[in-house]
Amino acid sequence: MTDKLISGKELAALQKENIKKEVSRLNRQGIYPKLSVIIVGDNPRSLTYVKGKHKDCAECGIISENIEMPENVSQDRLLAEIARLNKDDSVHGILVQLPLPAHIDEYAVINAIGSDKDVDGFTAQNVGNMYLGQDCFIPCTPQGCIDLLEFAGVEISGKDAVVIGRSNIVGRPVTQLLTERNATVTTCHSKTKNIAEKIKNADIVVCCVGKRGYLTGDMLKDGAVVIDVGINRNRDGKLCGDADFNSCIEIASKITPVPGGVGLMTRVNLLKNTVKSAIRHNK
Ligand code: GUN
Repeated sequence: MTDKLISGKELAALQKENIKKEVSRLNRQGIYPKLSVIIVGDNPRSLTYVKGKHKDCAECGIISENIEMPENVSQDRLLAEIARLNKDDSVHGILVQLPLPAHIDEYAVINAIGSDKDVDGFTAQNVGNMYLGQDCFIPCTPQGCIDLLEFAGVEISGKDAVVIGRSNIVGRPVTQLLTERNATVTTCHSKTKNIAEKIKNADIVVCCVGKRGYLTGDMLKDGAVVIDVGINRNRDGKLCGDADFNSCIEIASKITPVPGGVGLMTRVNLLKNTVKSAIRHNK
């Protein structure tokens, strides 16, 4: 069964070694990649994610700073901070951890980030460029899904893929990245008719619905490849994905585990985008 696992742990470790070397090389040229993370409030999940991002940066020699703002911070104050970071030449990546409190306009805040420092790839400029196939910052989780498929040697071109979920962060961009690689993609959501039939026909299933155990083995075509983007907790508080792992691994030819799959690649891609930004700013 282990030969069916697509290990994010293995790929992330390999890529982190390369990032470390690249950062050392940049340091020798006097370039010090730096990521600034803004976190508003104290959402426990966001705090955990942000902590992980700083740990990864430290491991790879990337400088990172945490800018904490209270839950009731005004939008103007937040925008002023982003404007300051946009102007700071020592900062290459700016990340505003989502979600933001309800009184803040997420679209306005994200788009205040200079697209040249938008290492999340969330600004309209980067999203637009991604759809146009231009050089840009690709969002970290969708890129991670592609990285894992490529690492596992899965042929994407000509395959039928189903993406379950249509969020701006994962579902939509991963649909685009698969399409760009010549897959025929069906993006499913809560209003999709005959979803079971669509999943059953898919060679590649990317599950990003955010529902524990949503995808079960009996829903899959024999030999399908499953990329599980979900991060949920089971009844015992343990991390689990959107796929019911034990039943899916019986039918799938390959599957990403949770934890140890896509989540680790999201983290690595943030590092890669930060290094890319540092290189671009020093060209
Ligand atoms: N919240 C959950 N995932 C992400 C992410 O990839 N980037 C940001 N900025 N916030 C998130």
